[in-house]
Amino acid sequence: MADVKRKRVLSGIQPTHDSFHLGNYLGALKQWVALQESHDAFYCVVDLHALTVGPDPVELRRRTLASAAQLIAIGIDPTKSTLFIQSHVPAHNQLAWIMECLTGFGEAGRMTQFKDKSAKSGADRTVVGLFTYPILQAADILLYQADQVPVGEDQRQHIELTRDLGQRFNSKYGQTFTIPEGYILKSGAKINDLQDPTSKMSKSSASQSGVIELMDAPEVNLKKIKSAMTDTGREVIFDEKNKAGISNLLTIYTAITGLTVDAAQNDFDGKGYGDFKSAVAEVVVDFLTPIRSKAQELLQDPAHLTAILQEGAAKANAVASVTLAETYEALGLIPRA
Ligand code: TRP
Repeated sequence: MADVKRKRVLSGIQPTHDSFHLGNYLGALKQWVALQESHDAFYCVVDLHALTVGPDPVELRRRTLASAAQLIAIGIDPTKSTLFIQSHVPAHNQLAWIMECLTGFGEAGRMTQFKDKSAKSGADRTVVGLFTYPILQAADILLYQADQVPVGEDQRQHIELTRDLGQRFNSKYGQTFTIPEGYILKSGAKINDLQDPTSKMSKSSASQSGVIELMDAPEVNLKKIKSAMTDTGREVIFDEKNKAGISNLLTIYTAITGLTVDAAQNDFDGKGYGDFKSAVAEVVVDFLTPIRSKAQELLQDPAHLTAILQEGAAKANAVASVTLAETYEALGLIPRA
């Protein structure tokens, strides 16, 4: 925090589930934790974005707090990063409107996530919020003058839109926004479903038996890993094409232990799949157990968790309100006072 030259990163995650899964963690969230050491990091639980799927209020409330608790439990340190809930900073909505007035209708309609989702449910059942979703995301990012946005490959187009909108505003109304770069997470491990090891681990998969949840009981995850789908043969070798199941388990094992694939393969030379799966199960469970306890502990003390989030919101508001005031000024909106 003392070092003003640190680059700023901002990222967000939707509170759409009670638990993050191992794919979320190894693919992205682990990098969030690492980035707080080298960057001025802002991380938000994007509850407003989650409204696009019409969540039940009781669930939304529970999942928002559970998401924040899990972020802290995996190592997001509120004294190093600014951790907050999106709806605690009203400037997100305020800047989103301004960005909506700069976005072409066709431009928004070309967002592939919107196209995919609206194609599935049909125009009449697609809410306008889904259409403007990427514009709210652009506001999330631009408000904090973020230099980099750590996200997965699927968010590349939204980052492009953010850059376009920032540049458009700057050239029309004068330099106001930092133009962020996508920091597309390649270093993150791509984790697949344990039962369908050629597809990404995802909450929307047909069965939950291939998804390792951070908040699941250790016995449950132990069982899921021991019954992971494996391939024919008996050697523990990384070969995504012919041994998708074993390769996925090796990815998980090496991501958690920090071993190289070669070292792991050597360790299991001459041993069968059974021994290997037990070892994977053990490292995963040993890794997740303290995370789960920490998250549960935080959730058992809502006053403490809320206080942390209030502090985060205050820090976020301090930055966001300055950007918003500059934006209003540049646009010619009359200041209230
Ligand atoms: N759309 C992102 C996702 O689904 C979540 C998100 C919302 C986000 N606002 C953001 C990510 C700002 C990065 C920056 O993953």
